Amino acid sequence: MLLSYWIITLTVWLCQFRQTTAFTDYLLKKCSQSGFCQRNRDYAKNIQSSKNIYYRIDESSIAFNETAYTLTANILKTIPRSDIDDIIITLPFTLNVLNESNAIRFTIDEQRNSPDGTNKLLQPERFNSLWKWAFDPKASLQAREISMSRTTPVISQRSWFDTFFHIGEDPSEILLIEDKTKNIKIELALNKFEIRVFHHDEIVLSINDRNLLNLEHQRSIENNFQNVLPEESTFNMFADDFEYSKDDTIPFGPESVALDFNFHNFQNVFGIPEHADSLRLKDTIDDEPYRLFNVDVFEYNLDSRMPMYGAIPLMFAANKKQTVGTFWLNAADTWIDIHYDDMGNTQTHWISESGNIDVLIFLGDTPADVLQDYTTLTGKPVLPLLSSLGYHQCRWNYNDELDVLTVESEMDKAGIPFDFIWLDLEYTDNKQYFTWKPDSFPNPRRLLSKLAELGRHLTVLIDPHLKVDYNISDIVAHEGVAVQNNKGRVYEGHCWPGASIWIDTMFAKGQTIWARFFKDFVPHGITNLHIWNDMNEPSIFSGPETTAPKDLIHADGLEERSIHNVYGMTVHETTYNSMKEIFSPQDKRPFLLTRSFFAGSQRSAAAWTGDNQANWDYLRMSIPMCLTNNIVGMPFIGADVAGFEGNPEPELIARWYQTGLWYPFFRAHAHIDSIRREPYLFQEPISTIVKDAIRLRYSLLPTFYTSFKMSSINGGAIMKPMFFEKPQYEDLYPVDNQFYLGDSGILVKPITTKDQFTTEMVFVPGIYYDLDNLTAITINGKDVASRTIDAPLEKIPAFIEGGHIITRRDRYRRSSKLMHHDPYTIILAPDLNGNASGRLYVDDGETFGYEKGNFVDTQFSLSEGKIIQNEVLHASNDDKSVGNTKIETVIIAIDGMPTDNIQETATIKIGSKEHTVAIEKSDNDHYLTIKNPLIRIDENWTIAF
Ligand SMILES: *[C@@H]1O[C@H](CO)[C@@H](O)[C@H](O)[C@H]1NC(C)=O
Ligand SMILES: *[C@@H]1O[C@H](CO)[C@@H](O)[C@H](O)[C@H]1NC(C)=O
Ligand SMILES: *[C@@H]1O[C@H](CO)[C@@H](O)[C@H](O)[C@H]1NC(C)=O
Ligand SMILES: *[C@@H]1O[C@H](CO)[C@@H](O)[C@H](O)[C@H]1NC(C)=O
Ligand SMILES: *[C@@H]1O[C@H](CO)[C@@H](O)[C@H](O)[C@H]1NC(C)=O
Repeated sequence: MLLSYWIITLTVWLCQFRQTTAFTDYLLKKCSQSGFCQRNRDYAKNIQSSKNIYYRIDESSIAFNETAYTLTANILKTIPRSDIDDIIITLPFTLNVLNESNAIRFTIDEQRNSPDGTNKLLQPERFNSLWKWAFDPKASLQAREISMSRTTPVISQRSWFDTFFHIGEDPSEILLIEDKTKNIKIELALNKFEIRVFHHDEIVLSINDRNLLNLEHQRSIENNFQNVLPEESTFNMFADDFEYSKDDTIPFGPESVALDFNFHNFQNVFGIPEHADSLRLKDTIDDEPYRLFNVDVFEYNLDSRMPMYGAIPLMFAANKKQTVGTFWLNAADTWIDIHYDDMGNTQTHWISESGNIDVLIFLGDTPADVLQDYTTLTGKPVLPLLSSLGYHQCRWNYNDELDVLTVESEMDKAGIPFDFIWLDLEYTDNKQYFTWKPDSFPNPRRLLSKLAELGRHLTVLIDPHLKVDYNISDIVAHEGVAVQNNKGRVYEGHCWPGASIWIDTMFAKGQTIWARFFKDFVPHGITNLHIWNDMNEPSIFSGPETTAPKDLIHADGLEERSIHNVYGMTVHETTYNSMKEIFSPQDKRPFLLTRSFFAGSQRSAAAWTGDNQANWDYLRMSIPMCLTNNIVGMPFIGADVAGFEGNPEPELIARWYQTGLWYPFFRAHAHIDSIRREPYLFQEPISTIVKDAIRLRYSLLPTFYTSFKMSSINGGAIMKPMFFEKPQYEDLYPVDNQFYLGDSGILVKPITTKDQFTTEMVFVPGIYYDLDNLTAITINGKDVASRTIDAPLEKIPAFIEGGHIITRRDRYRRSSKLMHHDPYTIILAPDLNGNASGRLYVDDGETFGYEKGNFVDTQFSLSEGKIIQNEVLHASNDDKSVGNTKIETVIIAIDGMPTDNIQETATIKIGSKEHTVAIEKSDNDHYLTIKNPLIRIDENWTIAF
């Protein structure tokens, strides 16, 4: 790389820090500047008008493996020639149904040799083992028994098929695959390549019905002219014209893969983070496609499909009857076009620069069903440290030990709880990771032990770029575990420390050496030190599009081009495993934050939405961004409160904390140039509003932790979109400014607009109790309705939906660990029939003891407004680990039920014993309180009142 080139890029980069404007998006390609994206868009246009068919299944190749329940066949790509014989390319195809995760999986690959001129350091095959990273190592890939027959397609579906899909004359040209367990039928057309998927006998998805399948097979620049279909464009096949990536050697020439998916009778698609855009994905027909390509986008643009730090190529199509999930398992640069057509269908076109086609289709009655299956395959979200659900105080930078301890004591003086304090880049000695700046942090063990006294934790930044010429990077270079350039030598690029090299965690040796560094770094016996992997897209200031050149080489001859979007995950997963190993003598859970993520990242990390700005638009956008991550199995996410870059005005600070307390990951963070804004520095009324917001989060920790536990079992959303909770109401599909907290029934609409003191909230029919005072509003009828809700500055519009029971811990403590011995309050919010239920999960919050049964899992219920019951589903094997299990207060909202025959006392039964306690009515007449009922969460009991 030319020296002058990176200096220019670096200058461009540094200038951004002084701007308050948005990201310099000329650094990133548009589709029209990306060879393979533009070629596939052109191909899509041309092939749909020509209607030519070049891909079909070779019937004689179809085989069914009776033990592996897997269909194999060859797809033939034919390039017609008038002068010589047609050129035929053979593309191996497989299809099966995975038994455990209920996924229909198909793959299309190409057998490739190294053509002359290809970089011999690269493995010649297409990268086809991404699943090894994306799938949970525990997931079973056993296929299920399916039946296969050559038959006529389902006649009832035929009529309109014939009209729109040009099915051959002979209706027997169909291979029918049936999965009776799930009532799934798959039709494989034989006269062209097309897959049609039926669920409950209705067509839900057709694949390649627009003939956009395009696998750019191996060819050389010399023979390219005879290898191109008439519909193909040759734009940038062997060169890259884009200003910042002209040096790309493109060793294999064009090698993109593309395919279309048509969702039948679906008008809403969601997912494919990370984008700063609405929850419901937009039609891209007249604009840029959504792009998945992990890059560093300081002050990213809003309402944009530009790529960001993370990529999860999972899309949901949902309607009120069913949901289809499409998982495009590819880690290369990827673009997705979406079109909501006039026939009520959603057409999508997926385009990746390299790799194979590996697709998993999930079918369910609800979005939650699909998420359950998807996370069975890619892994359930990690059950985090309970304390990591508390409040995190971060800043670039806390300067030294005294600074950290001063923040700690000021927070305590102000009565603001917190659990984690963070050190950004500057704690290191000269930006060399795995070191501490000696003058500022002379004794890390002393600092960590001091924080541990109140159960607090420290997170420090360690990134995968390593400054050249110090012992850590020397080891990485000498051991051959650095990412290599296209000549097979250690790649050097520019990042925070200046000239840097990158650890290659794509293979075992790199992982082992990375783990060794943590072992040396973490003071012996310390378990309250945690790691933040930033810049792991990777961010490279001197690199094209702010990231790695695509022709870099990783272990085993893998090209960066094909693995790009998963690299960041291999870094943070290795970091997590390293820390878990270090904490294993104490059996403590590590906490880990990553900026870059991929499908599977949920197994080890939390993520945040990167470098936002302290303004109202970024506050508003944080909600759909977090919601999207929550529906694709990566729920532990938050945005920097109250905006990373810039100085937020007081009203924005208040509203951001009122929003941020609902993020699964609740962290305040600020840029090095911003004015100090620790919460004890604010003036009234902001200081009280912020304190109340943080305290509300702490009081709800039992409810949050229960949601995280459920998510670690079923993959479910913690910050949950309206449509996800109530898929039967199609009016809710576009709503992305209000949400539920897990399954708790808490429904929130944060205020994200300046000077706004009322808001319209939407509700489905039922009764909703104000979270603060339990006054109810009732929604009658059958349809979604909206209501105007008061929202003065100190108020967060939040309700408990009738039918739910939530749990709180109401005493202020300095940290979550200190709440371990506090009793619980349960709040009952009856539905209009007087029924309600709620779950509570409790463990020690910090070890893996729950795997040995050291936890309490219990179910509260209320029947017909008369009897409250606790049914213990699991009582802990070890009482100490679950702390205080006493319930000190029971609160019953009563606006929804008749109160005339409520007694003065309640009768409590525990086993054969019985006692009575007084019932108090609240001053506002909206709820009843039972104090000191002498009951516990881990005992079965009933209360009659
Ligand atoms: C069928 O699949 C199994 C498991 O993958 C494999 O061991 C076996 O060789 C396959 N059988 C045939 C006939 O290809
Ligand atoms: C599929 O899963 C079911 C239930 O988990 C099990 O009973 C069955 O044996 C499995 N089938 C195969 C082929 O593994
Ligand atoms: C690197 O050097 C520092 C101090 O010079 C030392 O403390 C550390 O243990 C060394 N690390 C490794 C991995 O050799
Ligand atoms: C309860 O809170 C709501 C919303 O702030 C408010 O409109 C209502 O007046 C309050 N009711 C009582 C009884 O305090
Ligand atoms: C609570 O009741 C359930 C059945 O409702 C029973 O299975 C369980 O053993 C009981 N637990 C305790 C702690 O008594």
